[in-house]
Amino acid sequence: MNRISITRRANAPTINRNIYGHFSEHLGHCIYEGIFVGKDSPIPNIDGIRTDVVEALRRLEIPVLRWPGGCFADEYHWRDGVGEKRRRMVNTNWGGVVEDNSFGTHEFMQLCRLVGCQPYVNANVGSGTVREMAEWVEYLNSDGDSDTVKERWANGSREPFNVKFWGIGNENWGGGGNMRPEYYADVYRQFQTFCRTYGENRLHRIACGPNGDDYNWTEVMMQRAAPFMDALTLHYYTVPKTWEEKGSATEFDYDLYLETLRKASYMDKLIAGHTAIMDRYDPEGRIDLFVDEWGCWFDVEEGTNPGFLYQQNTIRDAMVAAITFNIFNRHCQRVRMANIAQTVNVLQAIILTEGERMLLTPTYHVFDMYRPHMDAKLLDCAVECAELEGGLAAVSASASEKDGVVTVTIANVDEACKLTIGGITAKEFTGRVLSGEPQAHNTFDKPDAVIPCELTSVKLTAEGAEIELPAHSVAVISFK
Ligand code: AHR
Repeated sequence: MNRISITRRANAPTINRNIYGHFSEHLGHCIYEGIFVGKDSPIPNIDGIRTDVVEALRRLEIPVLRWPGGCFADEYHWRDGVGEKRRRMVNTNWGGVVEDNSFGTHEFMQLCRLVGCQPYVNANVGSGTVREMAEWVEYLNSDGDSDTVKERWANGSREPFNVKFWGIGNENWGGGGNMRPEYYADVYRQFQTFCRTYGENRLHRIACGPNGDDYNWTEVMMQRAAPFMDALTLHYYTVPKTWEEKGSATEFDYDLYLETLRKASYMDKLIAGHTAIMDRYDPEGRIDLFVDEWGCWFDVEEGTNPGFLYQQNTIRDAMVAAITFNIFNRHCQRVRMANIAQTVNVLQAIILTEGERMLLTPTYHVFDMYRPHMDAKLLDCAVECAELEGGLAAVSASASEKDGVVTVTIANVDEACKLTIGGITAKEFTGRVLSGEPQAHNTFDKPDAVIPCELTSVKLTAEGAEIELPAHSVAVISFK
């Protein structure tokens, strides 16, 4: 029998809502077609931004959106994307296509306004200058009447945008300049010096962190630049096989399904490892760990541009998302933002589009089901369950409490199972469950093949509840 034991902790940390954040890069059809279709498009839009996508993102209450990259950030020159005349450039990272810069700073700010989320702007360090970045901060945040601010007025925005989150470079250990941590630490210190605060808006300066298990990067950054940063990032992708042959998004056997989930669960060790280093240099926990790129990375769908990273999304992706969120929740003391890669049409997307059609992926539904955790107090949640091959836990869970409601989210990896939840007393519950064969997914012809339904197999008991879960399922239960 599986068992989840819940206990309240004194001074329990809050699950930062930004853990449920997003990332959209100028890559493939994420921005263009997926989000931005232009004012003249027959697809319903506001200022060129798709209305259907905005509505779907609003429903999720997405808290924060990172832009313009990714790798693209380190070759993006923001002035190319403001004003009447936009500069055309080659997107060398992603498919070598021409980027016409019709989606730029003002369009991004309008997107965030429509969706109701905070912008997270990632500045160019790899091929940009300190002055360029400093002027971008001034352009977006200053209320003075400098020439840079007058440029913003001329481009239609009288009020400053007060952008708080500033990423200073992206993957500078790789595509962002192939730097050594010692070198980047100095470059970071220099760049962040000129990220000025305007008015009351204290900036959150975000340093590029490690790639997966590069603990040395974290060590060096913390040793040399900790006082100058508010957050350090971590990037980790779940690749079922190898980087050369990643595996199909929809065609895989049960062993590879489990292997994918094992790899996703590795996030727990990674966060624990990087947190332990951060704790040594920053015992008060002032500096956040932002996992600002995570998700599944498969081979692209047949017939699509290999540089566009377009992939389908199945119940397996939903399990990866659920397991990952349970990990983030449990580490919320240090992990205070995460951004799935990427919002629309790229990698583990929550939305796919085809012309005017749009579908919500299983991953979208997991975001929706996990919403009650946003800004809730973490509850301790011990799971006793079977261990599958390679140490993969058959059940993963996390729990939180907000406004007198206890929410438990569960990923049941394998067969249908029974479990008990102990440590709560409740008079009523609501529950939802998402399940199916690991390969099950939504298509434009059957967009509702995989959607959550009501979970009724819950029996309240004196110490909590007894639950029956279908195979390969993600569940959320709220107790009152
Ligand atoms: O998300 C796709 C790419 O993955 C990003 O551009 C880069 O930061 C990472 O390597």
